[in-house]
Amino acid sequence: MTGSFPTYRPRRLRRNEAFRALVRETHVDAAHLVQPLFVVPGQGVERPVASMPGVAQRSVDRAAEYCRRLAGDGVKSILLFGVPEHKDADGSGAVAEDGIIPRALRAIRAAAPDLLLMTDVCLCEYTDHGHCGVLRDGRVDNDATLPVLAAEALAHARAGADLVAPSDMMDGRIGAVRRTLDEHGFAELPIMSYAAKYASALYGPFRDAADSAPSFGDRRDYQMDPANAEEALREVALDVQEGADLVMVKPALPYLDVVRRVTERFGVPVAAYQVSGEYAMIKAAAAQGWLDERRVVLETLTAIRRAGASVVITYFAHDVARGS
Ligand code: PBG
Ligand code: ZN
Repeated sequence: MTGSFPTYRPRRLRRNEAFRALVRETHVDAAHLVQPLFVVPGQGVERPVASMPGVAQRSVDRAAEYCRRLAGDGVKSILLFGVPEHKDADGSGAVAEDGIIPRALRAIRAAAPDLLLMTDVCLCEYTDHGHCGVLRDGRVDNDATLPVLAAEALAHARAGADLVAPSDMMDGRIGAVRRTLDEHGFAELPIMSYAAKYASALYGPFRDAADSAPSFGDRRDYQMDPANAEEALREVALDVQEGADLVMVKPALPYLDVVRRVTERFGVPVAAYQVSGEYAMIKAAAAQGWLDERRVVLETLTAIRRAGASVVITYFAHDVARGS
C-alpha cells in the first residue's frame, strides 16, 4: 500500500496533464464504442428523432451513406435496428430474408466494408402489438418465440451480420439462437446477449426511434426488475452457459454496480448500453446550457468503462470518434 501524508501526496501525480495521462487507468476509445442506427423503409429518408437530437431514422440508401461517413470518422462498429414495411401479430418481417435488416446489411457492407456490423435481434419492431415475442392469451409466449428469434438471427447471419444481439429477454433464447446458427454453418458468428436488461423508463426515446412501444401493458413480464442485482448474475450465468460471447448490462449509468459485479464474476467481455434516455437527458441539459455536453459524455463513458465494460453501446460513439 501507499504511505500516508506527508510522505505520500496524491497531488504530485496530478500536477500536469503529462502526469495525469501517465497514470490514467481507464481510456475511452472509438475501438470500444458501438453506434446504434435506425433503418426504416423508403428511399432518401432521413427523419430526425425528436426525443433524440442528433439521431435520425434512415432508409437503407441513406444508412449506407451515413455508415461510409461513420467509418471515415473512425467509428468501428454499429448496431442495427430495423423498422419493417408491415407489422403483424407474429412479427413475420423479422425473419424475411429480404427484410429491412438484411437489405441494410448488404448495402452497408458495400459502402463500408470494414465496419463491424451488429444486429439487434428482437420482435418488438416487427409485431403490431409492439411486444418482444409472439402472444398467446394476451401474454408473450416464451417457447413459441424462440424459433422466431433464431430464424431472425439466421436471416441476419445470411445477410452478412458480424454479430447478433438478442434483446428480447426470453428464457433460453441464447441457446436457441446458438444451435440454429451452428446448424447452418455460422459456428464462428458471435452472440452478444442483452443478458441483464432491465424494465427501464429510460427506453422511451428509443421506442419513438424504433416505433416499438407496446400497444398494451409493459415489458415487466420479461425484462428485469430494476431492484434486482443477484438475479442479473443468474441471467448472465444462463446466457454464458447457453453460448453468449459477450454479455450486456442495460441501461448503463444507473446499473454500474451490476456491470462491476458481472465483470468480476464471469470471465467474459461485458458490454453496457448507454440507452436512449441517458442520451436524451444529457442532450436536453446541454441544449439548455446547463451541462458541458462533451465533458459529460466523456465522463459518463469513462465511468462505464471504469466499472468494467469492455464495450459501450452509445449514441455518442460518432461524436467521440470524430472528437466533437
Ligand atoms: C428492443 C430494444 C430496446 C432497446 C434496445 N433494444 C427497447 C425496449 O426493450 O423497449 C432500448 C435501447 C435504448 O433505449 O436506447 N427490445
Ligand atoms: Zn424488443
